[in-house]
Amino acid sequence: MRNGLRLALAFAAVFGVVSLAGGPLAAQTAATPSATGIMIKGKPYVYDPDNAQDVMRTCAGCHGDLGAGGGGGVYPRLGGLNADYLAEQFRKFKTRERENIPMIPFAVDREMSEADVLDVSRFLSEVKLDTKPPANMPADGYARLQVMKRVLVVPHEPGDVEAGKAFYGADCAACHGRKGEGRVKKPPLAAQHIPYLKAQVKGFLTGARAHDDLDILRAKTPADWTNLWAFLSTLQD
Ligand code: HEC
Ligand code: HEC
Repeated sequence: MRNGLRLALAFAAVFGVVSLAGGPLAAQTAATPSATGIMIKGKPYVYDPDNAQDVMRTCAGCHGDLGAGGGGGVYPRLGGLNADYLAEQFRKFKTRERENIPMIPFAVDREMSEADVLDVSRFLSEVKLDTKPPANMPADGYARLQVMKRVLVVPHEPGDVEAGKAFYGADCAACHGRKGEGRVKKPPLAAQHIPYLKAQVKGFLTGARAHDDLDILRAKTPADWTNLWAFLSTLQD
């Protein structure tokens, strides 16, 4: 990573251009990095935790120090997601197969080598986030801030939770898990920021991002979606 870029980000964070997130949630997806056996430029890849921390400083400005996401739910939670899924999405940003305008400056080889992608993905996959603040919050402001970096709270969405559950169970659970916990490269929908998820569905429907079984998504009414978000927002309770 280049220092100049980091400085620019630190500046942006201080002046509120990007918001520092607090955040949350128990690992829902088996964090099984299958990066062993990968060769990079003819050499076997070896996890470098120090480099992972270093790379993570760049991501933290938007995704939070521990990948809890935030920014009103625009920046997704990355902590506890599957390492292979994270790495694959990052590569999709690099090739622009998946569009992500805020990340364009970072999703290039000059900033993020394949080793950087694998390192930070593994680091994030091993983060354990909580979905509720602990019962005994420290009184000190700084200590509270540190604790809240591990807490991701998804506010409840209005709607018919039971109807959303029926929709989810019939059409989504087979891939995303019965409780929205995700499966390897099928990301969790539980304990993920709802504004982010809504933006993804919009992307699927407009063709900006690819998703299986698009006809099923297209057939849903606005009321179906409202109910789905209501249901998903209860999953981390
Ligand atoms: C300037 C803000 C910003 C920075 C810095 C940033 N991201 Fe992102 N990232 C985003 C936004 C916004 C999205 C959601 C894009 C969308 O809506 O599709 C995202 C999405 C992602 C996703 C997809 C998550 C999912 O569930 O599919 C991954 C993976 C990711 N970022 C990894 C990283 C990593 C690793 C870094 C550090 C090298 C990083 N990001 C730095 C803004 C940022
Ligand atoms: C056949 C398997 C399958 C089914 C069924 C399915 N999904 Fe997905 N979904 C995926 C995969 C795979 C991805 C990751 C796509 C990628 O690699 O970019 C995904 C991604 C998503 C995302 C983006 C999550 C993120 O973190 O970026 C949302 C939102 C989503 N699906 C919603 C749904 C909803 C709602 C349903 C039910 C109507 C559904 N999916 C049914 C396989 C499935």
